[in-house]
Amino acid sequence: MSYLADLAVVTDPKEQALDTTWWKDAIFYQIYPRSFSDSNGDGVGDLGGVRDRLGYLELLGVDAIWLSPVMKSPMADHGYDVSDPRAIDPLFGDLDVMDALIEEAHGRDIKVTMDLVPNHTSDQHPWFAAALASAPGSPERARYIFRDGSGPDGSQPPNNWPSIFGGPAWTRVDSADGSPGQWYLHIFAQEQPDLNWDNAEVVEDLTTTLRFWLDRGIDGFRIDVAHGMAKPAELLDMNLEGNALMKNDDDDPRFDNDAVHEIHRGIRKVMDEYPGTTTIGEIWVQDNARFGDYIRPDELHLGFNFRLAEADFDAAAIRDAVTNSLDAVERVDGTPTWALSNHDIAREVTRYGGGDRGTQRARAMILLELALPGTVFVYNGAELGLPNVDLPDDVLQDPVWERSGHAERGRDGCRVPVPWEGTEPPFGFSSSTRTWLPMPPEWASRTVEAQLEDVDSMLSLYRAAIELRALRPEFSGTEVDWYGSPPGCLAFRRRGGLICALNATDVPIPLPPGELLMASAPLVDGQLPADAAAWLV
Ligand code: NOJ
Repeated sequence: MSYLADLAVVTDPKEQALDTTWWKDAIFYQIYPRSFSDSNGDGVGDLGGVRDRLGYLELLGVDAIWLSPVMKSPMADHGYDVSDPRAIDPLFGDLDVMDALIEEAHGRDIKVTMDLVPNHTSDQHPWFAAALASAPGSPERARYIFRDGSGPDGSQPPNNWPSIFGGPAWTRVDSADGSPGQWYLHIFAQEQPDLNWDNAEVVEDLTTTLRFWLDRGIDGFRIDVAHGMAKPAELLDMNLEGNALMKNDDDDPRFDNDAVHEIHRGIRKVMDEYPGTTTIGEIWVQDNARFGDYIRPDELHLGFNFRLAEADFDAAAIRDAVTNSLDAVERVDGTPTWALSNHDIAREVTRYGGGDRGTQRARAMILLELALPGTVFVYNGAELGLPNVDLPDDVLQDPVWERSGHAERGRDGCRVPVPWEGTEPPFGFSSSTRTWLPMPPEWASRTVEAQLEDVDSMLSLYRAAIELRALRPEFSGTEVDWYGSPPGCLAFRRRGGLICALNATDVPIPLPPGELLMASAPLVDGQLPADAAAWLV
């Protein structure tokens, strides 16, 4: 099954010199563990599957993996509802498998980072069970956000906050005598009660969790909802108005409270005891000054930036997104980050129009992204050019589908398992045909096996581009100098000498002067075709 597993010489991790800033230009590969590779035939990906595929990741040339949550979880939100942050969920394996994965990845010079979910726990976490069994005002309830209801008999939620996943953000629980009692806050699903970050035990427990994984050799953490962890008490008395109710994080006072920075400073103190480790915050904050605050030298190392993923395939929009992302980190001398997709948003091939055109544009965009200074995040399957899958209603699993009353289909379409080999589902992903989401038969042409030796495939483009980025000195310098370019196009130059040109028009355009390194599509009469990008030196 793992025909790619043993392609490289394994080096002794102790022989590798400690590089404490590796994350500043790293390529992170995001693994959505359910969907990457299944080693035990239950139709769900697992850590054994990741171990089996390390050879592939080395071949692809990535520097680090980011594992979406693998901790113990009842899976109401596929792992973003953690019931024990210091255990591996049996669905994915156990601590021994995790230890082996860390060791083997390090042997191939691949760092391992994990998702942390500190904003909330699962409703099956022992703390939440203890809170439900305790009286209002108890220390057990103080770890979460419990409030009396409003209205004369407390039968209304404490405020009008919606959940990000649809429906109200408050759920009422029973009192000890069985009568309706207090309400608890859950910004996401009902099974994800928000923690109270003013509570010392909550802070202390995260410190314990950080050390637990760092002591096992983990190289860093992606921090879920990093901009939403602090909810000052006075905020909880407020109703939301206007835009906030439309869930735009910048207009939503539940996010990006000043108090959040103290939490991140606490996290950073622990991280600094482990040189060479890193943190990446999920920070949906558009305001550049406020975004930069998260990556001050004593806070998080990196902040996820979604601006490029939010831009249409339009030269002006892309240029704005790039400039904006660079500006956001400039004041704090931070590292820009780039992502075209992840497990929460539609895949780029689909966003850019789907079919051949969407694929051509996605090819152009990965060249643009890899030409930029900073850290790049590749979501598993993007390197195969996977599109979103239009799944039938009866297989949808994302809690968003139910909570929105079927108004929103949710995120399952970008989470369909990765096709590895063979001509029909499950394409080597699993030995079972009952994969947790069905895989489209037409993905036969998109398997790793089918693409590996096809020089024109998306996978070959990724491999070649990643290799050039690592080897060529022209990819140096943190500045981006814009070139004049025809309308509908853009071009920039790195100080090291790399030039990247992108044609978002419908017609071929002349290339800037220089020697062509590679292009996302064959040139047409020496010109860059529509929906394509090129690198020159
Ligand atoms: C952001 C994660 O990326 C998403 O998948 C999850 O549902 C929410 N946070 C809640 O944890």
